[in-house]
Amino acid sequence: TSDLPEKYTMRPLQRSDYRAGVLDVLKVLTTVGDVSEQAWIERYDWMAKRGDEYYILVVCDGEGKVVGTGCVVVERKFIHNLGLVGHIEDIVVNKDQQGKKLGLRIIEALDYIAKKVGCYKTILDCSETNEGFYVKCGYKRVGLEMAHYY
Ligand code: ACO
Repeated sequence: TSDLPEKYTMRPLQRSDYRAGVLDVLKVLTTVGDVSEQAWIERYDWMAKRGDEYYILVVCDGEGKVVGTGCVVVERKFIHNLGLVGHIEDIVVNKDQQGKKLGLRIIEALDYIAKKVGCYKTILDCSETNEGFYVKCGYKRVGLEMAHYY
């Protein structure tokens, strides 16, 4: 693995990141909705209390603005000898920052965390258009995603 671009940093999500633009980055991925700072902080605090379950990383540019983010949620199981599975969620890099290996670095860091905390595998769902990206990150196609929307 190599480094981020000069002056870029990667770190855990912080309580102040609403103001650093993390929701604007997520808008590149999907609908975020109208989330107030207070509502965001409430959700952040809920997740922070489950610090061994939610691992959220951000990449910041030289000015401290969030330009990429990603998450791994650690699921505790009964099967596989009380096994742990990492679920990679909400990987996104700002449009004007794509192609600089930021996505790859985020996945590498999340994989490192998942392995370190004891996950025996990490899984994710993605569109066909993103398959090539995840293959470059070391993932392979194993199944079929299903969803039930309410
Ligand atoms: N298809 C094929 N290869 C790709 C793709 C793609 N869609 N995207 C990147 N790659 C390749 C790159 O060319 C690079 O290859 P190289 O090492 O040979 O040069 C390698 O994958 C790493 O690419 P990065 O530069 O790290 O990719 P980037 O920083 O642009 O991030 C990402 C990729 C996260 C998919 C970004 O394009 C993005 O934010 N897209 C919109 C949001 C999105 O779709 N996120 C994924 C949702 S799935 C989920 O969250 C579980």
